Amino acid sequence: MSPAGTPKPRQADLVIVANRLPVDRVVNDDGSVAWRRSPGGLVTAIEPVMRENDGAWIGWSGGSDDDMEPFVDDGLSLVPVPLSAAEIEEFYEGFSNATLWPLYHDVVAKPEFHREWWDAYVRVNRRFAEKAAEVAAEDATVWVHDYQMQLVPAMLRELRPDLRIGFFLHIPFPPAELFQQLPWRRQLLEGLLGADVVGFQRPGASQNFVRLVRQRVGHKTHRDLIYLPDGRVVQAGSFPISIDTPGLDALARTEAVGERAREIREQLGNPRRVLLGIDRLDYTKGIFDRLRAFGELVRDGEVSVEDTVFVQVATPSRERVEQYRKLRDDIDRLVGRLNGDLGSIGSPAIHYMHTSYPKEEMAALFRAADVMVVTPLRDGMNLVAKEYVACRYDDQGALVLSEFAGAADELRQAYMVNPYDINGMKAAIVTAMNAEPRELARRMKAMRKTVLDHDVKSWARSFLAVLDEARPEHHKQLRPSRSA
Ligand code: F6P
Repeated sequence: MSPAGTPKPRQADLVIVANRLPVDRVVNDDGSVAWRRSPGGLVTAIEPVMRENDGAWIGWSGGSDDDMEPFVDDGLSLVPVPLSAAEIEEFYEGFSNATLWPLYHDVVAKPEFHREWWDAYVRVNRRFAEKAAEVAAEDATVWVHDYQMQLVPAMLRELRPDLRIGFFLHIPFPPAELFQQLPWRRQLLEGLLGADVVGFQRPGASQNFVRLVRQRVGHKTHRDLIYLPDGRVVQAGSFPISIDTPGLDALARTEAVGERAREIREQLGNPRRVLLGIDRLDYTKGIFDRLRAFGELVRDGEVSVEDTVFVQVATPSRERVEQYRKLRDDIDRLVGRLNGDLGSIGSPAIHYMHTSYPKEEMAALFRAADVMVVTPLRDGMNLVAKEYVACRYDDQGALVLSEFAGAADELRQAYMVNPYDINGMKAAIVTAMNAEPRELARRMKAMRKTVLDHDVKSWARSFLAVLDEARPEHHKQLRPSRSA
């Protein structure tokens, strides 16, 4: 894939603003440039929406100082925004991923507060807002995504009052008691209030936001509506995100994926049970505690490595951020210890892969796994849980799911666990492993219905429909004459 010589995007009626483009620019050792799919659930969710709506996508290309022209890749209009090496450190690794990320995830790790990081966050948000103002057609809809971009709505509204602006937060929004720690709490809330609709994964997050706005900014609120002094009304709400269920279901049914699933089981030694974890290597995902629980089951003699394997795929993520480096070392050490203590020749306790796989391989892994173990300590949604369900068209397979994942609201037939309770997690894994096919089918059928009825297209449609309704007529009066 190469952006060279491809046409500039025209002004778009739908503009997506997200920290990352759906593809990452990677420079190989020989200096050649390649494009690789970006990690994470956001890209998985937004890509089908973009394809349906023919919009433009504004985001960072993943490199430093790449001041690139807009380009079209695989039918998508992409508009890169450059970040300098210092901004990657202060805005992306710093404020986004060492301040906001841990703060919004129950302070599972300690958030760091640095004034220079905040300055970089403001500067980069302004750059994204300016780019959106340039790319959006008159009266266009701009949909801003996630915690890296929380100031964009207000900045953009100031530049382009004619626009309809939506914001969606893919990660949890914390309770007031935690959010309050932020020295820049008011600025962030005011940034979000630039949107007409502010969407969250869970109803509780939306309530946290409205309560904070009332307490910290002093605006009047009623249920999920916020009344601004200029007469504008901002609507908050929950819109649980989903996946391209029909696409994954069809992929899982292909002969190639079926064949690969059989091959995976064979390569694992055709065990009686395959347990699987697939996560970005992130301390919020609960990988460490999950592997510990499995190790204890082996040690207690409840599970034998001769007939049961645990496959853990950890996708590399944010590798220069200190907490992530530490996590990687901790997991490496734990896997080494478990395999050293509990494995035997040809039968390691854990098969651990630190890599990312294309979606065909993921679908094959899902089909090969008897028990999918998804145990985050806190997670906005967790699309992997939904992807597993989408791939199990055979109505088999068990999902062990943390009650602290947004997905727990919908996938109620999963084997629910509190990931802080190791004994509870062990018991749930054993129950899931030993469940009868009829019981598994009952649960899986119900979960499949949920993800088939609520796929990513219906998610986007419901958000955009609310956004469409949200803008009152007086915005039009505010609109400056763009021909002047
Ligand atoms: O929603 C969580 C999120 O941070 C997304 O914004 C992002 O696309 C994904 O995780 C991957 O993270 P990163 O862009 O930092 O690699």
